[in-house]
Amino acid sequence: MSTQHGTPHDSRRDRGLFRTKTVEQSILDTEEPEHTLKKSLSALDLTVFGVGVVIGTGIFVLTGKVAKEQAGPAVALSFVVAGVVCALAALCYAEFASTVPVAGSAYTFSYASLGELPAWIIGWDLILELALGCAVVAVGWSGYVRELMDGAGWHLPPILSGTHEGHFGFDLLACILVLVLTGILVLGMKLSSRVTAVVVGIKVTVVLLVIIAGAFMITGANYEPFVPPSKPNAAGGGLAAPLAQLMFGFTPSSFGIMGIFAAAAVVFFAFIGFDIVATAAEETRNPQRDVPRGILGSLALCTVLYVAVSVVVTGMEKYSRLSTDAPLADAFKDLGHPFFADVISFGAAVGLTSVCLILLLGQSRVFFAMSRDGLLPRVFSRAHPRYGTPYRSTIALGVVVAVVSGFTSIDVLAELVNIGTLFAFVVVALGVIILRRSRPDLPRSFRTPWVPVVPLLSVLASVWLMLNLPAETWVRFAIWMVAGFVIYFLYGRAHSRLGIRNRQATGD
Ligand code: ALA
Repeated sequence: MSTQHGTPHDSRRDRGLFRTKTVEQSILDTEEPEHTLKKSLSALDLTVFGVGVVIGTGIFVLTGKVAKEQAGPAVALSFVVAGVVCALAALCYAEFASTVPVAGSAYTFSYASLGELPAWIIGWDLILELALGCAVVAVGWSGYVRELMDGAGWHLPPILSGTHEGHFGFDLLACILVLVLTGILVLGMKLSSRVTAVVVGIKVTVVLLVIIAGAFMITGANYEPFVPPSKPNAAGGGLAAPLAQLMFGFTPSSFGIMGIFAAAAVVFFAFIGFDIVATAAEETRNPQRDVPRGILGSLALCTVLYVAVSVVVTGMEKYSRLSTDAPLADAFKDLGHPFFADVISFGAAVGLTSVCLILLLGQSRVFFAMSRDGLLPRVFSRAHPRYGTPYRSTIALGVVVAVVSGFTSIDVLAELVNIGTLFAFVVVALGVIILRRSRPDLPRSFRTPWVPVVPLLSVLASVWLMLNLPAETWVRFAIWMVAGFVIYFLYGRAHSRLGIRNRQATGD
């Protein structure tokens, strides 16, 4: 790619699919009165948002599943591996967010550095992380709520309880949750951050309860062996095996050292969301200072909590006996503490609501940014005259996600969410290197250390985790991305505002 020394006029130099939108133009677009979002968030709000979206299904559900099936007590190491991958990416996100404080996260960053087609592809890819992620978590939430309801003697008919083990049902609770959250988001960011603050308080308290109360119930023998010996997969190889194992000719297996990495690729889901702090940059009062603090602060806090929870829970109960639906609550139940189990189930049900809320928030902001740029229909990027929120994109997305969550079952889709997110990490890290070269003049209040080493390590680490996902996830990912290309060439390319401006400037 040619070096582009920056003035706003550079956007007139149309390079077709790789035309870039200058950072100045991105910031200018946020100032158009009808398309402006209210700036109301502080660093603390952002950290609360970060923790609110990060702690969720990953720690409450997946810990037990991967400990039991892939890593044993070494799942704590899987959390460390996934945390390191995220920390590298977070350093790149923080630089970008402090340089381009505009709604849209990785999408906006790519538009400024890599060009329009890569930006579109990333925006399309983020749907996997945000909209699909929201649907997956809504389904997990409805599972916990049904458990609490069953305990109270209220049973939903199976046809309204979602799809389980081949039995079809519409997930009414998940659908209702998404619609209610959509309403909250339309009413305003400040309200949503207040709701989030309460929910985050409950959630962190429950996680601390697990760590502190659980620490007194650890039996040392449960940690042996800490890294269970590797054993061939019962289901054999095929598309269900991690791509890395197929590529490098390993017999597809669970546990052992490879198991730690395969588990890391799954528990990565637990970290998803810290990057969403960056999508709220435009609504932050002092984004240059507060966005990096919000991203790195919430990531650090969550990593410590996750490692502690996984050490405690695998010490409380032998990994092979952990439950896969509600491992934290069930470990307490199995040790004769049903009261703790109920508190944990309640905390999980409350905690997952904020995860859904913020995933939906992030998705509506990315959608808003793509629509403002004309890559999606412009009607979606009107801010509400009174509430200052992107209400049309929020409502449209809320309805779609609600319907999808009604028909979704969790397992497979969580891995698709992971691959989509890791792909965005790769693009953002490359974007940091490119923007340093093409726009060295831009003010960067947060600078990623040791560029290009840290971004390159981030790329390698993210790709390595992607390779540890099942081959079938790669196939689904490829199909989704091809659909994205088709839509760009049918719609976005012709309607892009940047393209239209460039054509006007050159008189074509
Ligand atoms: N990190 C979020 C969760 O674990 C998406 O639910």
